[in-house]
Amino acid sequence: MPEESALSSSGSPGATSPVADPGALVVGADGSLTGATGSYTKQLGDMAGVYRDADAYQALLAERGADALVYTVQEHRNLSSEGAIIIGTSTLLPGRVGAEFAMTRGHLHARADRAELYHCLSGQGVMLLETVDGRSEALPLTPGQAVHVPGHWVHRSVNTGDEPFVTLFCYPADAGQDYALIEQAGGMASLVVTDGTGGWTTRPNPDHTGYRRT
Ligand SMILES: [Fe+2]
Repeated sequence: MPEESALSSSGSPGATSPVADPGALVVGADGSLTGATGSYTKQLGDMAGVYRDADAYQALLAERGADALVYTVQEHRNLSSEGAIIIGTSTLLPGRVGAEFAMTRGHLHARADRAELYHCLSGQGVMLLETVDGRSEALPLTPGQAVHVPGHWVHRSVNTGDEPFVTLFCYPADAGQDYALIEQAGGMASLVVTDGTGGWTTRPNPDHTGYRRT
């Protein structure tokens, strides 16, 4: 129809931008996400080089096998364009490798200025946050607590409890993840470790060589 053709060729955003369907989600405290569009898991075999205590890691690998589940992510995503968001849950199982608690690989967003929300649904853990110029924070998360991770902060979830540590997250769909940054730095600058009395503490990672500038 002539009127529609004229509207389309005018470059009107309303006529040309893709419009995604709304996502109706049910978020469980166990990390279940009804309505998710995708999911992935990380197994123990994927975590080579992540934990500082290589002997403890190898011993655990021998005991539990490379297929042992470490964490599961379920997510809902639609568009990947600027302004779109990804919503999901992360379920990180409890465990220890040497003195370190079970944790995710961690990353800086490939578009480093992109921020993220983490909201704890169950379990207890820590969000370990670092900047490339040496700032470090370890923020505890229990159900009801949330962390607003600003852009330019490397971040990793750590399960400091005995139950699955479940968080709801939300971040921009065009953020991406840079996993190599931590690997190239010899790990994050801080380690989240047992304090010897049933709790957790942080201590400097002697293998950390500093982050490359992004
Ligand atoms: Fe992230």
